[in-house]
Amino acid sequence: MGVPAPKPGFLGMLPLYAKKGIIGMDLEMTEKYGRVSGIFHGRIPALLISDAEMIKQIFVEDFSKFVNRNRFVPSVNMMKKAVSNVENEEWKYMRSIITPTFSSAKMREMCSSINLCCDRLVKKLASKIDPDKAIKLDELCQSYTMDVIAATSFGLDIDSHNNPDNSFFKNAKRTLNFSFSLNIIVLCMMFPFLTDILDYLNIGHIPKDSAEYFINVVNQALDDRKADSSTRRDFLQLMMNAQKENSENSGRGLTKDEVLANSLFFIMAGFDTTSLTIAFTLHCIAIHPEVQERAFREIQSKLGERKPNYDNVKELEYLDMIISETLRLYPPATRLNRRANCDTTVKGLFIPKSMVIMIPLYTLHRDPEYWIDPEDFNPERFSPENKHTINPYAYMPFGAGPRNCVGIRLANLVTKIAIVTLLQNFQFIQTPETEVKPKLATGGFVRPQNGTWLQVRSR
Ligand code: HEM
Repeated sequence: MGVPAPKPGFLGMLPLYAKKGIIGMDLEMTEKYGRVSGIFHGRIPALLISDAEMIKQIFVEDFSKFVNRNRFVPSVNMMKKAVSNVENEEWKYMRSIITPTFSSAKMREMCSSINLCCDRLVKKLASKIDPDKAIKLDELCQSYTMDVIAATSFGLDIDSHNNPDNSFFKNAKRTLNFSFSLNIIVLCMMFPFLTDILDYLNIGHIPKDSAEYFINVVNQALDDRKADSSTRRDFLQLMMNAQKENSENSGRGLTKDEVLANSLFFIMAGFDTTSLTIAFTLHCIAIHPEVQERAFREIQSKLGERKPNYDNVKELEYLDMIISETLRLYPPATRLNRRANCDTTVKGLFIPKSMVIMIPLYTLHRDPEYWIDPEDFNPERFSPENKHTINPYAYMPFGAGPRNCVGIRLANLVTKIAIVTLLQNFQFIQTPETEVKPKLATGGFVRPQNGTWLQVRSR
């Protein structure tokens, strides 16, 4: 195709993936070959693009030619109908049904159950405080987001902090277990035709018994709700209502399988991404105490002791700047991807049908052409005076265009409620255990390999 690329070996570029991880590989590729290069994802050829103008064309201007993502791994039957997996018209229809379940009104209604999960987080953290020791915060943040997902998606009160062995928590974690899925991911990278075969055989990257557990949870909830459903405000109910409203308006609504697939996908999409964002935000403000102090003062002056909710967190401008900057330095998703559905040309480069496009988010968010002093944590980049200078296609923690993250509002709300409540109660302090520049894990999401260790003091 005339794009620069290293010569792949029999294993494609698998050795580089294994040695450097996705982030390390993307940084090296961009440094060596520039903003457009060719890679082999296993044996799947793909273009690695971090040119903002091209990204804009692919994600927005020519969206109709790049509607779908590439599927690198097979999915068990129950996940095939999730909005992230369906394609073309089916995706368009499903997205239109799901989007209203994340409306402002629905988010407002979910606040009290999020506050409840946050109260538990505060209690648990308070019980762990030791003036001489740092606390590892990652699992606490995970338990909080899992509680939020169980409550907002299924209306379940699971209290993961105190019942880490509850079936919901255990099975949800198993569905996200990267080492379980790694073998299948690598196999499909090497032999792409296997994706369809495993797909057909209903062998995916989710353990079967965990998949079955969730099928039962949803079936049970759907049965329980047949009798009385009016007062529930979780996603399962909202999707069921959407199903009813749509079929009354001559749409077909969502089938039970679609409701199931999407409820389960919300766990996968929301759990790690949100807990990592909370943990990285705490990390960043601990190593920048002046930022933490200003955030605390803002919370005190705008909210005082009041609980955060959908409306009052909007007043916290500085907090928003901090979280945006954290997501620039540590975007949980390592790469975005799209697949061309026809031959086309992007900024003069011919792209054949079925070509996979990958966007290296971490590299893009630290590209010195788009960011001044990219390695520095500086929330001022996102101040009202400065943020117009940011190229929106060089900053995409939630993706871009019509197929961006549908859960942005929820993700921001859950993150902000956690940070506000935590800062109302605690101070976070760097210790010798804190890695100022955290070493990042090589697989899956952008994640601190050794965890987030901070000292915590009650206010
Ligand atoms: C900080 C937290 C989160 C981050 C950083 C994040 C990031 C992303 C990214 C990068 C994408 C791909 C977008 C693209 O390809 O352009 C995505 C897609 C998606 N996210 Fe999120 N996400 C977060 C939280 C959530 C939550 C809480 C939910 C739902 C409960 C959610 C649901 C989804 C769904 C359904 C998609 C697929 C959309 C589609 O294909 O139409 N996400 N997210």
